[in-house]
Amino acid sequence: MSSLQAQRAVRGRFLDIQHTVSQASDIAPAIRYIEDGLILLNAGKISWFGTWEKGKDLLSADTPFEHYPDKLIVPGFIDTHIHFPQTEMVGAYGEQLLEWLNSYTFPTELQFKDKAYADKIAQFFVQQLLKNGTTTALVFCSVHTESVDALFEAAEQQQMRLIAGKVMMDRHAPDELCDTAESSYHDSKALIEKWHGKGRNLYAITPRFAPTSTPEQLQKAGQLKAEYPDVYVHTHLSENKNEIAWVKALFPEQKGYLDVYHHYGLTGERSVFAHCVHLEDAEWDCMHATHSAIAFCPTSNLFLGSGLFPLKKTWEKQVKVGLGTDIGAGTSFNQLQTLNEAYKVQQLQGDKLSAFESLYHATLGGAKALDLDDKLGNFNLGKEADFIVLDLKATALQALRQERAKGIEDALFALMTMGDDRNIHTTYIYGDPVYVKY
Ligand code: GUN
Ligand code: ZN
Repeated sequence: MSSLQAQRAVRGRFLDIQHTVSQASDIAPAIRYIEDGLILLNAGKISWFGTWEKGKDLLSADTPFEHYPDKLIVPGFIDTHIHFPQTEMVGAYGEQLLEWLNSYTFPTELQFKDKAYADKIAQFFVQQLLKNGTTTALVFCSVHTESVDALFEAAEQQQMRLIAGKVMMDRHAPDELCDTAESSYHDSKALIEKWHGKGRNLYAITPRFAPTSTPEQLQKAGQLKAEYPDVYVHTHLSENKNEIAWVKALFPEQKGYLDVYHHYGLTGERSVFAHCVHLEDAEWDCMHATHSAIAFCPTSNLFLGSGLFPLKKTWEKQVKVGLGTDIGAGTSFNQLQTLNEAYKVQQLQGDKLSAFESLYHATLGGAKALDLDDKLGNFNLGKEADFIVLDLKATALQALRQERAKGIEDALFALMTMGDDRNIHTTYIYGDPVYVKY
């Protein structure tokens, strides 16, 4: 066999999902598990993937090569909702959403007008993502343009594919944290021109949520989306019952919370709505009809006492869903911990969340929710080479449990129940190992 050009080769035990599915029951048949596999990487992409036996002759002697015989390699985790300026306020005590925003969030986010401070936290934030095996995220910045520059600059240094945007917020927040409909339009437009499609960066128009935007600002957000149809829209929806009542009082002319966004042209293929815990049937139908996506954030929904997200309904109603950590209302950067809580949220509703479905939401399903499943989410040829090497036995208790695992599905479920950042051995971004534990 002739040798294929490869800048790097990785051998080990690989697990991914071969294609997107429209029913949870279709995930198990799409699982691809290769006990001794090989992946070849070239210019940040996957140039070959298969068994070691079939691929070993493709390697040339000078190809950089890593072998992980006792680990598990999966596609990088995708976080579909997280706030970078809230990194330092995880675990703020005692409040539910609206009081939590006023007491903790707004004072914290005020600091991000200072570019040097934003730079410092952006570096820390990106390192936390990598340390937790998250290779792509959809990120809220603060209202300040400096925070967006800081984050994209930090992501660029790692060649990470990141989607982010400046918060648009012109009411019901401290004056120093408010923009105006007009300034938010111009600032967001300038940021789109500067960052969207630059390297692996993508931009999201980011109205915080309906209560903190005037109708004029939502109209401007919709105008931006019409001018730049391939940028994202990222906001919150139907998280907390008091929030929903407030939206109904602020926008009595609309039929419901989602209708506010829909009215201003903010639903669609690249629109991601965090939470959606309390959607009404008509709203589920609108999410489906507009191809909008949900970010399910279990640690946040439990921490703020927001409610139990009905994950099963996303299959019934055919609505795309990804997994979000929602730092800092969420309590961990880690998608294994997030899946651990996601499982319990389903248990409390009498539903089951299998290990394979969990892997789907954290990888290929998340990529689909972000309209990036042509680029990310599994080991198909030509996809961007973002993947992670997992140590299944990072603690003595994990080792004891894993030695008794009944096959790969059970091993994965135990990992998702007990795992955290200690299980992330190496994180590859665009073909390069950018984080290595130890
Ligand atoms: N709704 C509006 N802003 C926020 C926020 O920062 N976090 C969460 N969880 N919900 C929100
Ligand atoms: Zn959020």
